[in-house]
Amino acid sequence: MIVLGIESSCDETAASVVEDGRKIISNIVRTQISTHELYGGVVPEIASRAHLEAVSGVVRLALEPVGGIGNVDAVAVTNAPGLIGALLVGVGFAKGLAFSAGKPLVPVHHIRGHVAAAYLSHTDLEPPFIALIVSGGHSHLVHVSDFTTYRILGGTRDDAAGESFDKAARVLGLGYPGGPKMDALAKNGDPDAIHFPRVHFADAPFDFSFSGVKTSIINYAHNAEQTKKELNKPDIAASFSKAVCEILTEKAILAVNTVALPSKRLVVAGGVAANSMLRSMISKAAHENGISLYIPEIPLCGDNGAMIASQGYYEYLSGKRADSSLNAFATESIEL
Ligand code: KG4
Ligand code: ZN
Repeated sequence: MIVLGIESSCDETAASVVEDGRKIISNIVRTQISTHELYGGVVPEIASRAHLEAVSGVVRLALEPVGGIGNVDAVAVTNAPGLIGALLVGVGFAKGLAFSAGKPLVPVHHIRGHVAAAYLSHTDLEPPFIALIVSGGHSHLVHVSDFTTYRILGGTRDDAAGESFDKAARVLGLGYPGGPKMDALAKNGDPDAIHFPRVHFADAPFDFSFSGVKTSIINYAHNAEQTKKELNKPDIAASFSKAVCEILTEKAILAVNTVALPSKRLVVAGGVAANSMLRSMISKAAHENGISLYIPEIPLCGDNGAMIASQGYYEYLSGKRADSSLNAFATESIEL
């Protein structure tokens, strides 16, 4: 079955054609980074307009290898969560395309899509498993019992992991998007140079909090400025990354070891899954705990249409369909 996936929830306009949820036939991603760089973050109004300009060309390119929409069996589109104006562009375009071509339309939850990126990189992977989802707007630990059944074990109580990397990068003057810049800088720093706080909740072992570590890096930078001490940016980036990655790793491993599963399997997904320190730290911990680890290849960690087409395939198989009244939502639980 051939599915076209369309993604426009944030700052990438993306479309992809995927066969049977696993095989990527095309994958076109047009990023808006250079547009938003000027402002130090995503400007929602500008993002919507950029999606509107790009979406038809991106979808046309994605359809080229299959010879057009006529050879597609279903259209999947991200309809939640994300920037509402940005989502509406993809949803409106997908509706017009699907219904004019007489194809079924399948709405896809963006964060479920991030998990599905692991199905594309690991074609043998099947639920049940635990998923650590770490993106710019979300940090969750989830029990995925089948392709469309999710149960949230815990999540962030304040900032998302990606958001904390982006804010730390801003404090260090690295610009947008901060995550990849922090990652690169951390490689030249000492992760033990500064101890940033790690937050634990006695009553909620799978919940996260990253606002403390964010405040801590802001205070550290201000103190250095006031005492005219030069900032060792690589050391700060490495120490900050270690604090965030340690918490994520510890809780993900605890979840796999705690929740009953037929075999110990962990998926790590979302933009922050591209982080080199997180990938190596969690690989080591998984190995030590006898856990099979599945992380998408780096280009599939960030937003793309292939992950939406893959999850769209499984949503289609479970009977999910949208009619012409399909709407977009800025927030929506992954469990729905
Ligand atoms: O999943 P994603 O592409 O978009 C959302 O759904 O939010 O995630 C984007 C987030 C941003 O916060 C970005 O800074 C972060 O993922 N990110 C990284 C890395 N690459 C992207 N964070 C840390 N290290 C990276 N290498
Ligand atoms: Zn995303």
